[in-house]
Formats: sequence, C-alpha cells, structure tokens
Amino acid sequence: VFAMNQQNGQTSWVITKYDHVKELLKSPNFIKDQSKIFVTPEAEGDEGKIIRIFRNMMLDADPPDHTRLRKLVQPFFNPKTIKALEPRMNVIADELISEMKNQKGPVDLITHFAFPLPIIVISEMLGVPVEDRNKFRKWSNTILAASDNLTTDFAQDVEDFIEYLTRLFEERKELPKDDLISKLLQAEADGEKLNRDELYSMVVLLIIAGHETTVNLIANTMYALFQHPDQLKAVQEDHSLIESAIEEGLRFYSPVDFSTARWSEEEMEFHGKTFKRGDFVLASLSSANRDEEKFSDAETFDVTREQAGHMAFGFGIHFCLGAPLARLEGKIALNSLLSAFPSIRMAGQEQPEWINQFLLRGLKELNV
Ligand code: HEM
Repeated sequence: VFAMNQQNGQTSWVITKYDHVKELLKSPNFIKDQSKIFVTPEAEGDEGKIIRIFRNMMLDADPPDHTRLRKLVQPFFNPKTIKALEPRMNVIADELISEMKNQKGPVDLITHFAFPLPIIVISEMLGVPVEDRNKFRKWSNTILAASDNLTTDFAQDVEDFIEYLTRLFEERKELPKDDLISKLLQAEADGEKLNRDELYSMVVLLIIAGHETTVNLIANTMYALFQHPDQLKAVQEDHSLIESAIEEGLRFYSPVDFSTARWSEEEMEFHGKTFKRGDFVLASLSSANRDEEKFSDAETFDVTREQAGHMAFGFGIHFCLGAPLARLEGKIALNSLLSAFPSIRMAGQEQPEWINQFLLRGLKELNV
C-alpha cells in the first residue's frame, strides 16, 4: 500500500498486492461516486453536458444506481448470449485474415487484425456504423488520454461524440433495429430504468471499453508467445491450449494496468496505513497479477499454468461486463491466426514498443 502523492490534505494511494487489491475492490468503503464526498457546483452549458456524460457511467456509480444500470445491460453480455455471436466473429476474423494474406511483406498485426476485429464486433452489437470506426477510435483515445493529461482536443472531441450519438439516437428512435442502442432507447422511453444522461454515458462507456482493451489482449498475448518460442510451439501443436494461453496473456501482460479510481468514504485503517475520507485509491491489477505470493513463478509466461483467479478483469461489483466477449474474441483471434499462418513469427529484429500510457498496456505496432 503506497502513498503516491499528497495535495490539499488528500492522499493518493496505490495498492499492489493481490490480496489487498481483492479486498479493496470488494469493499463498500471505497466508493466510485465522488459527488458523495466532494461538493462541486453544477456546471452549465457544454461543460455541464460533458461532465454529466462521465458522472453517469455505471463504472463510476455505486449501488443502487450501479445495480440498476448493470442489470439493464448484463443480459446482452452473458456467456450464452455472447456465444451466439461466435459464427459471425469467425466470419469477420476470416475476412481480416484474407486481407492480411493479400499484403506483401510484413504486416502490422494490430492495424490489420487485433484492432478491427473487436471494433467491428462491438459496433455491430451496438448498431454503430462500422465505417465510422476511425472517428470512434479518435474519440476513445482522447477520452482515455484524459486520464494522463487533458488535451486541447478533449472538449471538442467529446462534443462531436455527443452530437454524433444524438443524431444516431434520433435515427434509431424513428426506425428501431435489432441492436443494443435501440434496446437502450426503449429502456429510456419506459422511464425509471435509464435516464437520458445515463443513456449517453452507457453508450460512451461500451464504445470506449470495447475499443482499446481487447486489441491489447490479442496483441499482447501474441507478443508474449513470440517472446517465448517454446510456448508458441506448444500452442501451435495443440490448439486446445489457446484458451489457457489467453488467460495467461491476461495475467502476464494485463491489458488494463490499473483499476479506475475509488475514494475512501470514511477514515479507515488499511493494512497499516490510515486512509482519510476523500483519499484517492487505485489498484494495480498488473502488479496483483505478478504477485509471487499468489502465483508461483509469477514472472514466467506459462500457457499450461493452472489459473488461480487473475485480476485482469477486476473484481467485485464492477467486474468487467465484457469479459465473456473479450475472452471469446481472444480465442477466435488466436485460433484463426495460428490456423491460417502455422509458422507466424515477428518480423525484423527490432523489439516492439509499448505505448506510453497510464491506464492501458498495449503495443504501438506488432509486425509479423
Ligand atoms: C469494467 C478490463 C473488455 C466493458 C472493467 C474493469 C476492468 C476491465 C479491469 C473494472 C475496472 C474497475 O473496477 O475499476 C477489461 C479488459 C478487457 C475488457 C482487460 C479486454 C481484454 C471489455 C469489453 C467490454 C467491456 C470488450 C464491452 C464492450 C466493461 C464495462 C465495465 C468494465 C461496461 C464496467 C462494469 C461495471 O462498472 O459494472 N473492464 N475489459 N470491457 N468493462 Fe471491461
């Protein structure tokens, strides 16, 4: 339990041990809705609109709001519902592989495969036009980068994003389709279940969460396999190891390094440290996932490891809603790649570079 920073009487903490991370994430004493602690004047106009988008995300809500919002979307992300998407995911993967086969020389696996696969899937689920995916990538990146530093593009990008969604909602209201946005609009129209701000927040959350995370799962796991040729060979020879390779990829190169922020609601003792009301707390998921008291040979990448509950998808009530989707996409991705390219290898001698980013762990490119 480390104190990172102290400012205006508030301390920021980072939790790194597996057991402590688990305790933090399941404790109701650490809350997500900071408006319960800090009183800020209600912002007006465009600024107010932007703030409301973030304040109303389920990821930043506590029970009972969190419970109500999660219940609304959970059925669309259950393993059984997600499994029904498998044939379509295979078709998308096969199309991307055919395009890769048409490329001459080395190909960046991220641009040509790991990025488009999850984006096409989540866009189709939500009912967002797939051809607009580059706009969504820009907006998602700006919003995620805001966890590092606020860019001047931020306000403009969020405004464009809101305007785009407003138009899309109007279209779907007039002509509903069999997609998640149409169903969420229906829930909003029923009243009680979801208000207008929450509707925007939910769609923004699903788009952002579905964008950069699974991309990193696919690319990071392939990179770990390239770095460990014996492990790659084992998976190439026995595709039934793919599922456990994905779990080990999640543990070893966790695509989300840190949980999102929590606040200590009351003064309390936490493993020998005193947390004051309003202290800011982050859990390092990637550190928990390499805790040698929890995982034997934690620094070893082992696709046959018996998994013991890694923290890559978080824990507790905010446990990743998209975990079944990400796991299935990861499995299909590796299966398609290793079947289509039995001797796939990293191109060139240069080591790929990690993106310099706080929250997520991903490579800039991975040429194969
Ligand atoms: C929450 C990781 C993919 C939707 C989370 C959390 C983590 C996480 C760690 C909890 C954050 C916290 O407690 O502070 C991942 C990883 C992914 C992935 C590693 C891919 C490998 C996805 C996908 C979707 C998604 C594909 C859906 C489209 C969500 C949502 C939440 C969430 C909606 C908030 C849940 C809640 O507040 O109840 N994710 N995620 N995630 N994730 Fe994922």
